[in-house]
Formats: sequence, structure tokens, C-alpha cells
Amino acid sequence: TISYWNGRYLPLDQVQVSPLDRGFLFADGLYEVTAAYNGRLFEAEAHIARLQRGLAALRIDTGMSAGDWLGILERLTAESGIDGDLTVYLQVTRGAPTTRAHGFPAGVTPTVFGMVSPLKRPAAAWREQGVAALTMPDIRWGRCDLKTIALLGSVLAQQAATDAGVVDAIQIRDGFVTEGAATNVFVVKDGTIATPVADHRILVGITRQVIQRLAATAGVPFVERDVRAIELASADEVWIASTTKEITPVTTIDGRPVGTGTPGPVWGRIAALFAESQG
Ligand code: PDD
Repeated sequence: TISYWNGRYLPLDQVQVSPLDRGFLFADGLYEVTAAYNGRLFEAEAHIARLQRGLAALRIDTGMSAGDWLGILERLTAESGIDGDLTVYLQVTRGAPTTRAHGFPAGVTPTVFGMVSPLKRPAAAWREQGVAALTMPDIRWGRCDLKTIALLGSVLAQQAATDAGVVDAIQIRDGFVTEGAATNVFVVKDGTIATPVADHRILVGITRQVIQRLAATAGVPFVERDVRAIELASADEVWIASTTKEITPVTTIDGRPVGTGTPGPVWGRIAALFAESQG
């Protein structure tokens, strides 16, 4: 399939990465995953804005504008050759200097990479029955707000879920819910949606932003606050959400049912609005 590599479009199997690339040696880079439904990018501007914020925070200067990023996403989508829904993956690293040293290298051009993949939408059974999750300690670093390619925490969390035969791992830090392995978490109690505060402990998901907007549209109360792990046990509903998992109801946590053990009515309303917004 087509990919983007430092200003050029070429088949993915022709991309060659330097072993000295800062991404390879230090995980010194950022990424984005954006969905396109039927050839139409979903929330592309928001994904680009988050990427640009992250690059600025890490002082990686690609010289690219929001329009340049959108152009790459659009061309990769248009020329994907993929029938149906897809994701566009973008990755930017601090580039490939000639030696390995921790500090920022001088005069090195960032590496910019993009590729497309078929999007496997959440299974119908996930919407009908919900999914199971486990809880586990959040062992990640202190800047989870940056979408860095240093993903070992997420890798280990997802594998713990997979090993246990469940879909996601809800991570707990100091007694509070942070995120799933690669999802944001929402709890519903007495009709109010709550989700952890957008600080250094979580990635501010684009799907999360959409949910916030849809809740306002629907007149459903939505609050950002610290969510205690013990609230998972008494919640009426728990959801996980991301670009690839969309909004998925969690009906079992650590082997115990959430609420009635079935997808809840607040999820039903917001998920219906979300489906409409996907077009
Ligand atoms: N992950 N939190 C984490 C840690 C994530 O990795 C992701 C997304 C999210 C949800 O963000 P968004 O709604 O913008 O997709 C929250 C992507 C999908 C991934 O790593 O593949």
C-alpha cells in the first residue's frame, strides 16, 4: 500500500528507516491514528491539532502547517487502494542523526512517516453485549498527555487484557482511573457521564472530545473529574472510547457485572449520535 516518507509517496515496502533514527533508538517521536469512513476522514483537524501541540511541546519542528498535514492525510486516504473504512497512521520522530546521544541533535530534519491500513470496526457483539475488561496498575510515565511512540505501558496493558481473554485493561494510578490500554474511560452514574480530567495522566482522546460535544447536544450532563477506581464497581455504565474502538460499553470488570451487565441507555443515546456524526 501507499505510504508517505519524508516528502515522498511510495509503496510501504520501499520505506527504509535508519537504525540511528531517534524513533528507533529513543522512541523520540509522536504518532496519530485517524479514521476515514467511506473515504472521508473523521475529525482530521482535531488529530492534526493534537499532533501539532505535541510536536511543539517536544520542540520537534517539521516546518509543516495544518494544511500540509491535512494534504498528507487526504492523499493517503484517496490513494489507499483500500475498499471501505481505513485508518491513517502518522509518525514524526526527531530524525536520524549520525551518532547516538540523548540530547537533541543539532541540524537534523525530523522523520515524517504515514501509512494506511484497513479499519476493523468494533464487532456487533460488542455493541449488543458489551465487552469485558480488567483493572491493573498504571505503570506509565508522567506525560501520558503526549501521544508518544513510547508505548510499552500500553503494550503490556493490552497484553494483560489479551492474556486474560478480555478486551481492555483499565489502568489505575493512586486509586484513580486513568485510561484503558489505548482508550479513554467513561463512567455513568445517575445519568451523568464522568471522565478523568485532561491532565498529564491521560491522553486527551479525539473520540473523548466528540463524546463531550455530543453529550452537550443531547443535554446529558458531562463532567471531567478524578474518578476513583472503586466507582467502577457502583457505576451504572462504563465505556471505553478511541478512534479504533469507537464507543464501546464495558459490561464486565474484573469478572463482575457493571450495572445491569448490559449496555446502558446513556451509552445507547451517545453511541447513536456518534454513528450519525461518522456519516
Ligand atoms: N490510541 N488513550 C490512549 C493511551 C490512546 O492510545 C488512545 C488512542 C486514546 C484515545 O484517543 P483517540 O480517541 O484520539 O483515538 C486514549 C490509538 C487509537 C492507538 O494507539 O492506536
